[in-house]
Amino acid sequence: MSVEPLLNVQSLSIEYPSPRLTKAPTRVVHDVDFSIGVRETVALVGESGSGKTTIGKAILGLVAPASGRILLDGRDISALRPRQRRALAVDLQAVFQNPYGSLNPSMKVGQILAEPLFADGSVSRADALTIVRRLLERVGMPADSVSRYPANFSGGQRQRIAIARAVARNPRLVVCDEPTSALDVTTQAAALDLLAELQDSLGVSYLFITHDLAVVKEFADRAIVLRNGSVVESGTSAQICLQPSHPYTRALLASAPVPDPRIQRRRRAARLAMASGAAPVTPATPVAGG
Ligand SMILES: Nc1ncnc2c1ncn2[C@@H]1O[C@H](COP(=O)(O)OP(=O)(O)OP(=O)(O)O)[C@@H](O)[C@H]1O
Ligand SMILES: [Mg+2]
Repeated sequence: MSVEPLLNVQSLSIEYPSPRLTKAPTRVVHDVDFSIGVRETVALVGESGSGKTTIGKAILGLVAPASGRILLDGRDISALRPRQRRALAVDLQAVFQNPYGSLNPSMKVGQILAEPLFADGSVSRADALTIVRRLLERVGMPADSVSRYPANFSGGQRQRIAIARAVARNPRLVVCDEPTSALDVTTQAAALDLLAELQDSLGVSYLFITHDLAVVKEFADRAIVLRNGSVVESGTSAQICLQPSHPYTRALLASAPVPDPRIQRRRRAARLAMASGAAPVTPATPVAGG
């Protein structure tokens, strides 16, 4: 990990316009600070509506911050012109939750993967085909996938294709927004393994957005816990998952699904006690696999 962070988010606040134009915009992200080092995975966790996707979108240039800065390698990328933003696509990529919606259904997989390679005109058609075949192999997909359409693949396979597309030009940072939430547990584990393997071989960093604390401890180096658009706690993923200091993080951990019905019953009882105003007495049970 380098001393200078790859990504540095400083006092980031984000607002959405109100549907009634006469009303003031709604601030959904408040003064958020965090950084991501080279080859580091930082998880952004929090319940639905806490602002995770909004922060990811701001990093990707899809929403403009109300205030604050987003530095990539020390350069402020929060207010780039469209051309500069397009050039940044080499360094900054994304994988989204829904592998059904994120791949163009009318394009063959070969075209989908080759498209980003042609973007700056530096790759010839023959080279692109070689790179695409290598990419497919790298993500564990058969080489003949090039001539098939996204509809011919399962959710897990489509997510592999989406991951291949994201890493096609060796990005520095990939924003992964719930990349495994739509997958079953086995496929989810395989997709996480793939992301980890690619990190080892490419040195890429991940912002890993999830509401699922069960995957954080296994997959992320550090975690940032978000509540109503503000950071309530941050630390190593082991600290966050095993020794959370904020009651909100403990409540999040307590609501993570666990395979053991006895633990599940204990947690449900603790949640009900918390909801009825009683102090949470039991420390959070470490997440599955801990
Ligand atoms: N385009 C939009 N216009 C107005 N408000 C929005 C828009 N997108 C999100 N919001 C609001 O911003 C807040 C944060 O939403 P966001 O999608 O970032 O949450 P999230 O943490 O990603 O949730 P989830 O886990 O459900 O994906 C929510 O209150 C949401 O209703
Ligand atoms: Mg979201």
